[in-house]
Amino acid sequence: MKQKNKYRSEWECPSNIALIKYWGKKTPQLPLNPSVSFSLQNAKTKTSIEIPQSNNRKVEFIFEGKSSAFGERIRNYFDVLAKDEKWLNDFSFHIESSNTFPHSAGIASSASAFGALALCLTDLKNQVEENEVSTSNFFSKASELARLGSGSACRSVYPQFAIWGEFAEISGTSNHHAVPVSENIHADYFTLHDAILLVDSTKKKVSSSAGHQLMNDHPFREARIKQANNHTHEILQAMKTGDHEQFFKITEKEALSLHSMMMTSEPPYLLLHPNSLAIIRKIQDFRRQTNLPVGFTIDAGPNIHFLYFEKDKNEVHRFIKNELMKFTENGNWLDDQIGNGPKKLKE
Ligand code: PMV
Repeated sequence: MKQKNKYRSEWECPSNIALIKYWGKKTPQLPLNPSVSFSLQNAKTKTSIEIPQSNNRKVEFIFEGKSSAFGERIRNYFDVLAKDEKWLNDFSFHIESSNTFPHSAGIASSASAFGALALCLTDLKNQVEENEVSTSNFFSKASELARLGSGSACRSVYPQFAIWGEFAEISGTSNHHAVPVSENIHADYFTLHDAILLVDSTKKKVSSSAGHQLMNDHPFREARIKQANNHTHEILQAMKTGDHEQFFKITEKEALSLHSMMMTSEPPYLLLHPNSLAIIRKIQDFRRQTNLPVGFTIDAGPNIHFLYFEKDKNEVHRFIKNELMKFTENGNWLDDQIGNGPKKLKE
């Protein structure tokens, strides 16, 4: 073990939005099906971890200057990691974190939060254990550690597009970590924007982890796994050739399928809001009327992610302001876009 007075790491990591959805898992946080996403540019978490000189194992978590309820989840996360990462048992950790997006916005921050934490921990592991993780494995290791905090977080450690879960057509894909999948993709997709229309920021009634559990005995479990695999094949084909119609068709089917799984689980539940549906209708009408390549996706919540290409930005923004803003909570929406992935900050 390297002898040093102080270890420190600081990273910024984006959130990501899935096109093909991860829904349902096996222990230890392994997905039932492959998922495909892109990293965002603006919605990020910045995290620093310092190892103060101390012998007691303690994990202290400060979020935007205050101690936070999320600290308990992080302490549990450290307990899970420490089963394999024995070095974690030898130190105390002082963690400070902040988000670039408003806390109350109703945007899931666990992907960027666990992405940033996992990048710091991989970096600290290298400092403590003298470059245990080779440069070529750094991000897949960080992805694996992020996965154990929040499944979808494992896709956030890469720029642009990532795939998580074994997928026979792409070698190197794994259930344990995500891999980048930005080759063989038509240039238009690197100009994707995601206007996040915030419909309702109240805390959701059923958490994602409870939702994943309900897939275990779901009557449509096998059909959903098959569909997600087919959609993965179809969307990657569409993205290779630049078939935008097919791209948005699959993306929207995935979003609706995710919510259908929730509506048909035992017990069933509903996360969509009447205004989520109003926005979906408006987007479909807008597409019909303008013939522009646009579409929507939805996470496990009521907010609508309106996807469009850079070249159509002015027209889309006018449409959002005139037609969609009235369905959002207090006129709240965030304009985000495909991003360049995480960044290491100062030593
Ligand atoms: O990462 P989790 O456990 O919060 O699961 C989230 C899953 C979805 O966001 C609904 C879909 C996805 O693939 O990101």
